[in-house]
Amino acid sequence: MSDPADSGFVDTLSRQLQTQVLGKPLHFFTTIDSTNTYAAQLARAGAAEGTAVIADSQSGGKGRLGRTWVSPAGVNLYLSVILRPPVPAATVPQLNLLAAVAVADTVVQVCGLTPAIKWPNDVLVGGKKVCGILAEMQTEGGALRSVVLGIGVNLNAPLSAFPEELRDKASSLLLSGGRLVDRPAFAAALLTHLEKLYVLWLEQGFLALRPAWEHHAAWLMGTQITVAAPEGIVAGTVLGLDSDGALLLQEGNSGTSRRLLAGDVTVVGGYTQGVRS
Ligand code: BTN
Repeated sequence: MSDPADSGFVDTLSRQLQTQVLGKPLHFFTTIDSTNTYAAQLARAGAAEGTAVIADSQSGGKGRLGRTWVSPAGVNLYLSVILRPPVPAATVPQLNLLAAVAVADTVVQVCGLTPAIKWPNDVLVGGKKVCGILAEMQTEGGALRSVVLGIGVNLNAPLSAFPEELRDKASSLLLSGGRLVDRPAFAAALLTHLEKLYVLWLEQGFLALRPAWEHHAAWLMGTQITVAAPEGIVAGTVLGLDSDGALLLQEGNSGTSRRLLAGDVTVVGGYTQGVRS
């Protein structure tokens, strides 16, 4: 397996890459503050769709809701891809769900593990988070110019790489599966899955992706969950995913159904493993 802490990573990845657009060109950094921040700069300067940024480590990895993303060197994947979809800005959150499906498909293909997606876009293995996704868009006068799709996957991180307070919630594919993951092979496979799903989404919309998302979902219909949503805490029973990726819940006592567009989900009683149809 190639080792990856230098530009050998990129040479190996470039040789294995079978995409038409995504990952072309590829910018690699031994260390950077955030691949998303750098990719956004490239996007503003006019970089083409598909341009990707990969770093061996990040000093200021960005997570959702202003959190930081732990980004140690030599073990994981930190990837940001510039997309320029001709769609309204309101549909951009769907790219988070799309990326989660691409990561889950890659985990199955490369590692033979059973991942589970926690709405909207965390990928878990054995109930612990191994991947985070952060889509950030650039607009001009309300029109969408570009999206930076950032994906962090904990591939070979040892437990000691995670701060104490994250160790019961986060993991790596090595810790969960017991086998080292070939980083360039994982990155090449991920870009292939992303491209295939992105083309499908552009041509047919989110509905075409929904079965794949549901296939990997971390819950069954009827699961009791609570969601820390921007509008407050909502508790209810999962009804499913709407045609645009919104979460449909039947709310606790009122029995009314709710559509949620964002939030942090907690499953009452913990997560099931991915559901296979
Ligand atoms: C989350 O909070 O779950 C989202 C984490 C996203 C992390 C990735 S790592 C590559 C890209 N660069 C960043 O700074 N963040 C994303």
